[in-house]
Amino acid sequence: MEFRHLGRSGLMVSEISYGNWITHGSQVEEDAARQCVQAALDEGITTFDTADVYAGTKAEEVLGRALAGVRRESLEIFTKVYWPTGPGPNDRGLSRKHITEALHGSLRRLQTDYVDLYQAHRFDNETPLEETLKTFDDLVRQGKVLYVGVSEWTAEQIGRALKIADEMGFDRLVSNQPQYSMLWRVIEAEVVPLSEKEGVGQVVFSPIAQGVLSGKYRPGQPPPVGSRATDEAGGKNVISRMLTDDVLSRVQKLEPVAADLGLSMAQLAVAWVLQNPNVASAIVGASRPEQVRDNVKASGVKLGSEVLQKIDDILGPIVERDPAKTVSPERRP
Ligand SMILES: NC(=O)c1ccc[n+]([C@@H]2O[C@H](COP(=O)([O-])OP(=O)(O)OC[C@H]3O[C@@H](n4cnc5c(N)ncnc54)[C@H](OP(=O)(O)O)[C@@H]3O)[C@@H](O)[C@H]2O)c1
Repeated sequence: MEFRHLGRSGLMVSEISYGNWITHGSQVEEDAARQCVQAALDEGITTFDTADVYAGTKAEEVLGRALAGVRRESLEIFTKVYWPTGPGPNDRGLSRKHITEALHGSLRRLQTDYVDLYQAHRFDNETPLEETLKTFDDLVRQGKVLYVGVSEWTAEQIGRALKIADEMGFDRLVSNQPQYSMLWRVIEAEVVPLSEKEGVGQVVFSPIAQGVLSGKYRPGQPPPVGSRATDEAGGKNVISRMLTDDVLSRVQKLEPVAADLGLSMAQLAVAWVLQNPNVASAIVGASRPEQVRDNVKASGVKLGSEVLQKIDDILGPIVERDPAKTVSPERRP
């Protein structure tokens, strides 16, 4: 496993990290979750990503149990705040009250005294940015949060936050967590250039497009049993947008490209996002340990310019590049 700096910070993260959205506390049983976490640790993954909202807070509990007993200094634990975790108006968003209470809940569930990275899971249009950043800064000073980041913020929002932090002397954002894959490149036009200039690293999610880029979904055929596309608890809804014949047939054409390089398609997909030097880590999900063992082999793989061009030619018009696709809800959900 290779390691990268998280943005311009001194923190090193494994360039492939493990995330537990959809899976822990929901799609997969606790036993499979533990096996995936163990496989990640065995393969050299040190960075683990979760969020308070995943599986209605159960995902953090599962991860906390799976990592209990592992030397804390050998892990980087990331979690997030913003999406609702309860019925009340203050159980969501980025107010001082919710951030503070949410962090305490996350620490309890994760069985740790601090998180390495605390991320604003979306931009909150209903809270002054100064309030959010001051609260994050206070939590850093209390030692409960070591670094602060965001997720799916636009370049304009990240830039505004950095300006306030510099003016007020608050801790600066070191990372952004956007969706990024061969199919979804919306950060490339604006977020990445600003982030490179400002020392913000991307911790990218869904690098395998939720499994689509593994090639296992075939056009005109039902999804494989046990895959995310058959997960009635939530997975099926979020993956369905990508399961069109056009997307799936173009993805199938990537198979010989991967085979020529001696890679599985999932490895090619993870290696592809890691070619971007602004990416600090690619967060992979897994419903079984073999997937983790497959995906980690993408660490350290270099792809030449001809390979990258071939991929672009195959995918053509199905690649999404519009920066306007980075959006947070207008009102808190
Ligand atoms: N910040 C945000 O808003 C946000 C949003 C989404 C995700 N995330 C983070 O990013 C993490 C990863 O997201 P993701 O799960 O969508 O990423 P992903 O790595 O693109 O997809 C993971 C899923 O693809 C399938 N898969 C993985 N490796 C495979 C392989 N080698 N062969 C075949 N199938 C394979 C598995 O699903 P099946 O086996 O069930 O088919 C697995 O659960 C999340 O856990 C979370 O930490 C963050």
